[in-house]
Amino acid sequence: MLRHLLNPMDFSVEELDRLMDLAGDIERNPDKYAHACDRKTLATCFYEPSTRTRLSFEGAMYHLGGHVLGFSSADSSSAAKGESVSDTMRVISCYADIAAIRHPKEGAALVASMKSTIPVINAGDGGHQHPTQTLTDLLTIRSLKGHLDNLTIGLCGDLKFGRTVHSLIEALSRYEGVRFLLISPPELRVPSYIREHLDKTGHYYEEVQSLDDAITSLDILYMTRVQKERFFNEEDYIRMKDFYILNKAKMALAKEDMLVLHPLPRVNEISVEVDDDPRAVYFQQAQYGMYIRMALILTLLELEV
Ligand code: NCD
Repeated sequence: MLRHLLNPMDFSVEELDRLMDLAGDIERNPDKYAHACDRKTLATCFYEPSTRTRLSFEGAMYHLGGHVLGFSSADSSSAAKGESVSDTMRVISCYADIAAIRHPKEGAALVASMKSTIPVINAGDGGHQHPTQTLTDLLTIRSLKGHLDNLTIGLCGDLKFGRTVHSLIEALSRYEGVRFLLISPPELRVPSYIREHLDKTGHYYEEVQSLDDAITSLDILYMTRVQKERFFNEEDYIRMKDFYILNKAKMALAKEDMLVLHPLPRVNEISVEVDDDPRAVYFQQAQYGMYIRMALILTLLELEV
């Protein structure tokens, strides 16, 4: 049966565990997987800018011995001529075995999957979801903390438009004892569907504004960039963009074993002086992103090694 990844909830907790175990095995034994995707092709269809997501997908496929084709901006595809996502994906299904798509519109990956005859991976749809970043985040937390339950996580910054935040909250809400501190200015609160989801699952969550107050109790601090491209006007963006800046002084208030994650790219929200703090793991996180995408490609293609 054709399987897509559009939302992190498309995988059960057990499947996520298997995926993370596979990523761990790939990291430890890369040679074993070097030909797992021989003669398979990944299409990367990116209608929005990307560094890590697209290149880690491409790196993942190359490390599995496969091929990659695709485009990295809407202008260089037939979208510029008015072609629909659905038609584009129908055609790409003839050239590739699996596709990763990023698009500025919410729901674009779902639309793409409807006419596709190959697995479609949502690599970010507007301000909605970003499930492969979440797989990366879960693997990072599980690898470095040893577990995903009983954690207090603070998500800080643009919780309204930050798709990585929405996906991560949904995914973590399936683990016991996870507490969420949602740290944002009132204008950038999480959307109501995320709050309703948390209400339904019964998880503890609190919406707060002060990072200084929240940071002391956190096991994980997930910083995010203010999503400039999703603002309706420049003035609002300028007012919000430097609302939070994590620096050494703030890190001094945090627990000794708190981890700082960030999906990257970072703009101003984490001062570079924090990079050398052993608790800052955002560059390591980007590395985990490739292993989990390798595991995801193998899983969706149903390839056994
Ligand atoms: C994120 C995204 O595209 O949503 N980046 C990423 O994929 N690592 C976060 C962001 O752009 O701020």
